[in-house]
Amino acid sequence: MSNPVNSKKRGRINVVLNHKRVDTFNQNDSLFQSEQEKEEHEILSKFEKKLEEYIGLEEVKRLVNEIYAWLYVNQRREEQGLKASKQVLHMIFKGNPGTGKTTVARIIAQFLHELDVLTKGHFMEVERADLVGEYIGHTAQKTREVLKKASGGVLFVDEAYSLARGGEKDFGKEAIDTLVKAMEDHQHDFVLILAGYSKEMDYFLSLNPGLPSRFPISIDFPNYSTDQLMEMVKQMLKEREYELSKDGEYHIKEHIRKVRQEQQRTFSNGRYIRNIIEEAIRLQAVRLLRENSFDKESLLTMKREDFNFHSSHVKLT
Ligand SMILES: Nc1ncnc2c1ncn2[C@@H]1O[C@H](COP(=O)(O)OP(=O)(O)OP(=O)(O)O)[C@@H](O)[C@H]1O
Ligand SMILES: [Mg+2]
Repeated sequence: MSNPVNSKKRGRINVVLNHKRVDTFNQNDSLFQSEQEKEEHEILSKFEKKLEEYIGLEEVKRLVNEIYAWLYVNQRREEQGLKASKQVLHMIFKGNPGTGKTTVARIIAQFLHELDVLTKGHFMEVERADLVGEYIGHTAQKTREVLKKASGGVLFVDEAYSLARGGEKDFGKEAIDTLVKAMEDHQHDFVLILAGYSKEMDYFLSLNPGLPSRFPISIDFPNYSTDQLMEMVKQMLKEREYELSKDGEYHIKEHIRKVRQEQQRTFSNGRYIRNIIEEAIRLQAVRLLRENSFDKESLLTMKREDFNFHSSHVKLT
């Protein structure tokens, strides 16, 4: 049986979504159990697998299921001569640094492309300075250029709240107005994702009453727990073919517990973990050179002293 969602020939579909309302299936469960079903829904299976590589992110995993299911059902509705509703997929991502916002936005861009929702599926990340100009009219022009480049893909505005920084007279407002106009203009084929710290994003949205309803999908990226960060440590080491000694594991866990408490807001979560792993790889290499030991066991093993947090070059934020 041909699978409409796998077919690239059909016309584009617009998706109906209200993320908050749908909460019916267990978020950890795949929609499909049998191999045959998985094969039939290969795009979803592919992205489920991709997301499995990431720790946590349950809301995102659920959203991907929802989008897929909606498109599939819309397609089936069209086959039956029923309406397939047009709606919006613009999103708000709220969370601290290193919680996976950019990573997820990239994956979603690819996902929407493979589902034919976006024609190109490329990812473009911008910040205030890329959108806001220096004189009257300059901002609209700059923002329109960015929109042109983002066409067919995902436009990701990091620290989006900074667009409201200077109040009514600031050119940031002009950038917001230009983005909103593009969102309403159906010629523009793109998904806009505004990202930033939760509190600042909430404040930003409250200052712009017309905005929240234009972003029906809002995803929270909570700080990772100590256990989740430890899982990331193990996973990143495994991917790189290293093994962590028991005392090494204990040492890292104690450290993470401490820094999570001290740096709740600015702590860079997953990025910090990636950076300490990369530093540990360098430190282990220096140790091995010093010890002159290059047997397989030595090459594999990451020891406590390879995580030297006292004189680390890795920034916490
Ligand atoms: N759930 C996760 N599982 C595994 N690794 C993760 C996860 N989340 C983040 N990371 C790691 O952390 C790094 C930083 O993530 P990312 O750049 O997506 O964060 P961000 O939320 O966009 O941060 P910022 O707000 O500072 O831009 C990623 O490159 C990845 O290596
Ligand atoms: Mg980012």
